[in-house]
Amino acid sequence: MSYKSGVTREFMDIRKKEKFIHSHAIVEKGAKIGEGTEVWAFVHILGGAKIGAGCNICDHVFIENDVIIGNRVTIKSGVQLWDGVRIKDDVFIGPNVTFTNDKFPRSKQYPSRFLETIVKNGASIGANATILPNITIGEKAMIGAGSVVTHNVPDYAMVVGNPSRLIRILKKKK
Ligand SMILES: CC(C)(COP(=O)(O)OP(=O)(O)OC[C@H]1O[C@@H](n2cnc3c(N)ncnc32)[C@H](O)[C@@H]1OP(=O)(O)O)[C@@H](O)C(=O)NCCC(=O)NCCS
Repeated sequence: MSYKSGVTREFMDIRKKEKFIHSHAIVEKGAKIGEGTEVWAFVHILGGAKIGAGCNICDHVFIENDVIIGNRVTIKSGVQLWDGVRIKDDVFIGPNVTFTNDKFPRSKQYPSRFLETIVKNGASIGANATILPNITIGEKAMIGAGSVVTHNVPDYAMVVGNPSRLIRILKKKK
């Protein structure tokens, strides 16, 4: 069956299975990237990173070593994922979302271990939100654009503002 001007469904299925790395991306040796994941231009992925299948990593994303990303995750442009960030399946990370891993940073002083941030299945983070370290964002939670998240966010919670506050619990189907 014709899918789009001369492109067959079979071709589309094969294309989905293969990972795609843009010629202007830098993927360091050792980085694990799953089937069907697309890595676009000016992305830099360090060698210890683990990225699942079917993800979309947009232009100008930086991913450090101790980072684990699940399947079908979308990471929009301008996001940096530092050591200690754990992103589960089906998460949406909006443009210019900022993660952090050091609560009291000082130049050239490094903690023995960077703090973890966990974003659970199906959560979405709006554009330009800032997530402080050692935070867990619950399943299907929705973080409003520009929020500064200073506390854990429960499953299905919608939070907005600086500091972010709960404004609604979402229905399970959303
Ligand atoms: C959080 C969000 C999902 C809420 O959408 P919604 O359910 O339609 O909520 P509403 O627009 O009805 O807003 C509810 C209240 O929260 C406020 N609010 C909504 N989003 C807010 C935000 N990001 N920051 C601060 N306040 C916000 C509204 O002003 C409104 O307050 P009011 O009742 O005093 O007027 C949405 O506003 C948002 O931020 N989406 C993220 C968009 C984004 O970044 N997309 C990235 C892809 S480009």
